[in-house]
Amino acid sequence: MIEHTVQIPGERIVILDFGSQYTQLIARRIRELQVYAEIVPYYYPVDEIIKERPAAVILSGGPSSTYEKNAPKASPEIFFQNIPILGICYGLYQVVEAFHGKTEAARSKEYGRAIIHISGSSPLFSGLSQREQVWMSHGDKVVSPPPGFAIIASSDNAEIAAVENRERNIYGVQFHPEVYHTINGKKILENFLFGICRLRPTWNMKSFIESSVESIRNEVKDGTVLLGLSGGVDSSVTAMLLQKAIGDRCHSVFVNNGVLRKNEHLQVVERFKKHMKLNLIDVDASARFLKKLKGVDNPEQKRRIIGREFIKVFMEEAKKIGRFDFLAQGTLYPDVIESVSTKGPSDTIKSHHNRVPEVLKLIRSGKVIEPLKELFKDEVRELGRALGMPEEIINRQPFPGPGLAIRIIGDVTPERIAILQEADDIVVREIKEAGLYNKLWQIFAVFLPVKSVGVMGDSRTYENVIAIRGVTSVDAMTADWAYLPEALLRKISNRLINEIKGINRVVYDISSKPPSTIEWE
Ligand code: XMP
Repeated sequence: MIEHTVQIPGERIVILDFGSQYTQLIARRIRELQVYAEIVPYYYPVDEIIKERPAAVILSGGPSSTYEKNAPKASPEIFFQNIPILGICYGLYQVVEAFHGKTEAARSKEYGRAIIHISGSSPLFSGLSQREQVWMSHGDKVVSPPPGFAIIASSDNAEIAAVENRERNIYGVQFHPEVYHTINGKKILENFLFGICRLRPTWNMKSFIESSVESIRNEVKDGTVLLGLSGGVDSSVTAMLLQKAIGDRCHSVFVNNGVLRKNEHLQVVERFKKHMKLNLIDVDASARFLKKLKGVDNPEQKRRIIGREFIKVFMEEAKKIGRFDFLAQGTLYPDVIESVSTKGPSDTIKSHHNRVPEVLKLIRSGKVIEPLKELFKDEVRELGRALGMPEEIINRQPFPGPGLAIRIIGDVTPERIAILQEADDIVVREIKEAGLYNKLWQIFAVFLPVKSVGVMGDSRTYENVIAIRGVTSVDAMTADWAYLPEALLRKISNRLINEIKGINRVVYDISSKPPSTIEWE
């Protein structure tokens, strides 16, 4: 389990993950109800869970069938600890099996919307109607409830759609209350948290800031912290939180690698140093990066060069200040969850990204502070707002570490960077003005070193192409190309060709991911 900033026994929900695509959604819904929830893999040592006395354990859904060989199983002890339990879908089968009920493959599988009929007066369904629309996604079903368990709901395809053992505070549902299509799913989770587990909604950004500041102070004491600031949401929020906790003893280093967006270096300095009073060291290392990038057209090599050079510059700047006690990073919760997949646990444990051994050598304790490691991205944005940061930073679209270098196909030259900075600036400004910036995952310009013929005034031109890439996405794993209004595309295209010397053609990228990627390199 992750080390917590907040250790409040009995106010935390533990979700055992059996590999459902909805597991993270369960955690998010619970946190929306202002209760802290944490995901651990189903094989997490049960003694550890019991030791921390969570307020309840939720067993997630999962893709396996319980009667398959090697199907993942919950440790039986978890059911006998006087801790309230809610099993969802596959989690329901775990409850049923632990208490000697029976599940088997359903003759007709059930996916999508379904109606359940609620019977009795279960506290889980308090305030609901007798007929409720829910979201089902299962191929197995419960055929006989365990002794001591009552059936509290049924559907056409699953006569046993929910069970309870009120004495033991153990509940199980066949459907997914965490999915929006379960119309009263939120109410069901509320009933579980506040009615059955008797929790109070106390987890919010204000309380998070308070406890997080306190825990940073306790850990850092009078020491110093080093942080790499990229200007993106995660590192900016981390910097603000650290500043609140330890003030100038957090040293943020911002490196201009020469492939940032137009005026970005100046903006970061203006915003963070002047307005937010961060203890910020900014370094313009553009020339060094561009020298190293000269003549390189391989995308992976560009990435390697920029990554390596960044570490060098960062280390040099840090060494000028001296040694530090801690390193801070803006790692988010999805990066630290050990995800369960059908391939087996060992394949899927995420490695700790961005841990650079060289940088850790500068850190006396060798320790990394990750104040956002319990938060999802939207919670980080909320935290940023609570810390008084402007929307412009909070809603910034992702920008890759290698910057414009991977948006210039082929050789990265100062002329091409200048053209692309102008193009990117026009595209983003127009999209913001049209009120579409926050609706898109990313939108940007790509420089194509493809010469084509044009005509401007009375003369022919032979210039480069700008491609516009705009996508919608939830997590960048998959993405759709964004449909933009014709008039907007027309305006952007006109501006790019008329205002930027060296461009005489604009194309719009209509490829989805997969099979394409979001970036062009
Ligand atoms: P792709 O192009 O793989 O991008 O569909 C998915 C997301 O990752 C970002 N991206 C990067 N971010 N360093 C980064 O920090 C990189 O080398 C890199 N490559 C892609 C991309 O902007 C998109 O959001």
